[in-house]
Amino acid sequence: MPEQPKTNKPAKRLDGNHHITGITGDVVANVDFWSRIMGLRFVKKTLNFETTFRYHTYFGDTDGSLGSVVTFLEFNDAPKAPAGKGNHHSAVLRVRSNEALDFWMDRLTDNQIFSELYRLNPTVPRRLVFHDFEDHKVELIVSDAADKPLAFPASDIPPEFQITGIEGIRSNVSVQDLKPYAEHMGFTYNEALQRFEMEGDSKTSRWYTAPVPEDLPFQEAAIGVWHHLAFDADEDLSGWRDYSDAGPVPTTPIYDHHVFDSCYAQTPGGIIELTSKGPGFLVDQPKEELGERLALSKRVEPLRARLERELTPIENPRRPDGTLKTEPPLDQPKKAKATL
Ligand SMILES: [Fe+2]
Repeated sequence: MPEQPKTNKPAKRLDGNHHITGITGDVVANVDFWSRIMGLRFVKKTLNFETTFRYHTYFGDTDGSLGSVVTFLEFNDAPKAPAGKGNHHSAVLRVRSNEALDFWMDRLTDNQIFSELYRLNPTVPRRLVFHDFEDHKVELIVSDAADKPLAFPASDIPPEFQITGIEGIRSNVSVQDLKPYAEHMGFTYNEALQRFEMEGDSKTSRWYTAPVPEDLPFQEAAIGVWHHLAFDADEDLSGWRDYSDAGPVPTTPIYDHHVFDSCYAQTPGGIIELTSKGPGFLVDQPKEELGERLALSKRVEPLRARLERELTPIENPRRPDGTLKTEPPLDQPKKAKATL
């Protein structure tokens, strides 16, 4: 007799954010922006595990800690489009203070990137809004979460201004439409701060909403649109998959993605991934070599020689200690594109 799926809520709650993923069409610009300018560590240069020829780049804190990681799938043949109805709208990353927002506004200006401060409403967190080179919208927010800071000591960014992890996501969805799924997964809505909140054992996730662009279609994979947000299911991915699947929207089976196991759901607020804690980034290379050599799963390893010959070469701009391998020219940067 087939085993009945578990539909009871797992005993251990989801542990907040795991990672956020966007779509890149230009991996060179992608690494330049997220490592050199944003000061995150390039923690994994690998492939998207649904293909045998597309890059998957990962950026995070010194250890690639869960809750710090921003990743990008390379689809240079994908359309470039704005986030539509039901897409994630902005990646929301944490900084410590209002002074950090000022620092980042100046740093982005030095790199010819527009940004905008939202700080005139005292009842909501202050934030700085801008776009990466491919139009992924980013918010740096002065977070009130008490989570452990997850930072990388980029040598050209003072420690007090470094990014300290993922606050969450902002999505093109109404509170009313998101509520059934969000509450099923353990979020509660904070009316005063206008956000959904999830308290994990070690990490806090916040899910913000944005006005729904009724005239813009949902983008399944578009350059510049955040593809998904992943939650940390820790050691009980199977339990959380079954519980998620028994909720308002269906959930895929669990897939082996080499560094993590994952399953996916298409929710009213965007694609959500549930992800295992391990095996993690050290599964195939030591900490000091993260982001250097191309990391390949056993399935793709036979293609290494061809991949290293034919893939666009990308260089990690920073050493493991956070220093830049080469100083940018004074009239930099040649890749910069002003967007807002
Ligand atoms: Fe993912």
